[in-house]
Amino acid sequence: MKIVIIKETRRAENRVALTPQVAQQLIKVGHEIMLESQAGYASNFSDEAYEKVGCSVVDKSQALPLADIVVKVNAPDASEIALMKEGAALISYLYAAFNPELVQQLNAKKLSAFGMDAIPRISRAQNMDALSSQANLAGYKAVILGAANMGKIFPLLMTAAGTVTPARVLIYGAGVAGLQAVATAKRLGAIVEVSDVRPETKEQVESLGGKFIEVKSDEAAKVEGGYAKEVSAEYLAKQKEAVNKSLFMADLVITTALVMGKKAPVLITEEQVKQMKLGSVIVDMAVEQGGNCELSESDKTVVKHGVQIIGPANLPATLPQNASELYAKNIQNLLNHLATKDAFKWELEEEITKGTLICHDGRILK
Ligand code: NAI
Repeated sequence: MKIVIIKETRRAENRVALTPQVAQQLIKVGHEIMLESQAGYASNFSDEAYEKVGCSVVDKSQALPLADIVVKVNAPDASEIALMKEGAALISYLYAAFNPELVQQLNAKKLSAFGMDAIPRISRAQNMDALSSQANLAGYKAVILGAANMGKIFPLLMTAAGTVTPARVLIYGAGVAGLQAVATAKRLGAIVEVSDVRPETKEQVESLGGKFIEVKSDEAAKVEGGYAKEVSAEYLAKQKEAVNKSLFMADLVITTALVMGKKAPVLITEEQVKQMKLGSVIVDMAVEQGGNCELSESDKTVVKHGVQIIGPANLPATLPQNASELYAKNIQNLLNHLATKDAFKWELEEEITKGTLICHDGRILK
């Protein structure tokens, strides 16, 4: 099939959907790949690197009408959708539930659109799970970003001039991003504490050298489709009580708490920020879902009550080389699952197809 890679147009998006290495493997199984010039440049992949493995570098307006499959990181815009041929397939992040207008546009063109954000969290789809591959990198970068904005270092340092005590890092949420943040902060030498509503994360946190903050409650978050469900207001109040001591001593706080399909829970209020240490830093990774801190703003750093609150909207794009490598692998694995070199299988009731296929054959499926 003819696969087309185009350059991302979202502001500050440096990733590309396929790398030369993955393109080469797809060409080997019989696909043909066309690439918009410079599509991989911001991820450190030159046009020449793609050409060397057999891709052709083309003009976007010429390539899109020919594509059987368009692969992207972010959803295409109206002009790109207009250029695609009827019945073609699209694989990209779509966040269909939040973008009904986009879904209408895709469907009006009778496109078959697969959402990379909708891969089910099941074992056999792990190697296609782009949210996880990107959250892993983002968890790492959140710590680095926090460290770069702190007035102190992470490790214990004993010098002739005196001893520097290690930084205290508090992490909310021990999912993919949170666990990588624990590992990164530990590697840098910090004391790391973690709060999560799923008690089973305690063991994972401890295996990375973090301290799990226990909440005295019989309630625990249920898990559905690999994601935590909402907990009660009563539980959240108890959690606040248990975590506050650590929050008020923390030098860096990373928040990653997410409840699938809901606005992010507010875990840090302005009242709490007022009691935090002067110069401490919050990196709110959930800012795009409304934020875990009530003062955070998307893609901005705000200083409130002497605390820096950073709300990075797209951390994976700040590590575009690795992020593209992992995303490309996720796409390759999905594609291998969904299609042969000649056609899609269209097993509409199969779990991964069913989870990811947003519209098909003129019908909206979600
Ligand atoms: P995940 O679903 O693997 O982890 C979320 C964790 O939050 C789960 O362990 C869940 O039990 C926990 N949680 C839910 N309610 C909580 C509460 N009240 N207190 C403490 N923990 C709670 O999600 P993942 O993939 O780790 O992503 C985490 C967040 O980071 C998401 O909001 C995601 O959208 C965001 N993210 C942000 C990026 C950025 O550039 N800003 C990049 C990648 C992810």
